[in-house]
Amino acid sequence: MEIEFQGRTIIVTGAVRGIGRGIAHALAARGAAVHAFDVLADGLEETVSTASPARGGSIRPVVVDVTDPDAVQAAVAEVEATSSSGAVDVAVHSAGGVRGQHPKAIEEVTPEDWRAIQAVNVDGAFHLARATTPGMKRAGRGRIVVISSRAGLGVSLTGIQSYGTAKAAQIGLVRQLAHELGPYGITVNSVAPGFMPTSPDYVRQWESYGPEGQKALIERTAMRRLGQPEDIANAVMFFASDFAGWVTGQTLPVTGGP
Ligand SMILES: NC(=O)c1ccc[n+]([C@@H]2O[C@H](COP(=O)([O-])OP(=O)(O)OC[C@H]3O[C@@H](n4cnc5c(N)ncnc54)[C@H](O)[C@@H]3O)[C@@H](O)[C@H]2O)c1
Repeated sequence: MEIEFQGRTIIVTGAVRGIGRGIAHALAARGAAVHAFDVLADGLEETVSTASPARGGSIRPVVVDVTDPDAVQAAVAEVEATSSSGAVDVAVHSAGGVRGQHPKAIEEVTPEDWRAIQAVNVDGAFHLARATTPGMKRAGRGRIVVISSRAGLGVSLTGIQSYGTAKAAQIGLVRQLAHELGPYGITVNSVAPGFMPTSPDYVRQWESYGPEGQKALIERTAMRRLGQPEDIANAVMFFASDFAGWVTGQTLPVTGGP
């Protein structure tokens, strides 16, 4: 099965840290015109300079805050103007994470802590879907892929209540949108990664386990290794491809095993 994205216009949010960057790089290497969305301007430059676009692919940095609905609408309209079909072909929402937070007892979690995580993970997915679906409907096809987490399917290793809730909410949103958008040829799916130290927040979590805890985590993993961004990108590329035309509303755990 050879997956290619020549001529496809693709948005990847959260394209600075490990997973989003890995997805953006993989798609550009397979011919996509990737529009890399993130709030971190310097990090986006690095996402572009470390990419190896091939087969006609490209990668363009777009500084945008996905929690701002108007900014997302405007950025999506600019992307649509570059697309031969006038639509975004694939929208991948990887922006998310724990926003630098540490686990706290529920009574110590402030409403601001709670909201910050919901804003990027859940509101961001909503804003991206809301902005890209009109074009996808006009084109009669489209793909939306949300990076949720194993934390949305069980108890989060982060211990952060808002994070586990947000990841479960993303899975609910995916199921609901799949049902609504199927008649328009649009599929909506989710990839649920297992733990991987791909950004400062997750490196801190990994270091907190110490050598024994790290060894135990790997030994509990069927494949006996940590995941890499490429493992997540491979699953995203399947959902984004023509091979997944009759797969929608699904969440695929990509965790190295049960
Ligand atoms: N690394 C893991 O262990 C793991 C496991 C399961 C799921 N995930 C999920 O995978 C996704 C990517 O995680 P990651 O490991 O690459 O690191 P991460 O969670 O730190 O990445 C978040 C990315 O989103 C960007 N971002 C944050 N707020 C934003 C905003 N308001 N607007 C635009 N961009 C914003 C950040 O700059 C960063 O590039 C996240 O949704 C995360 O929750 C990660």
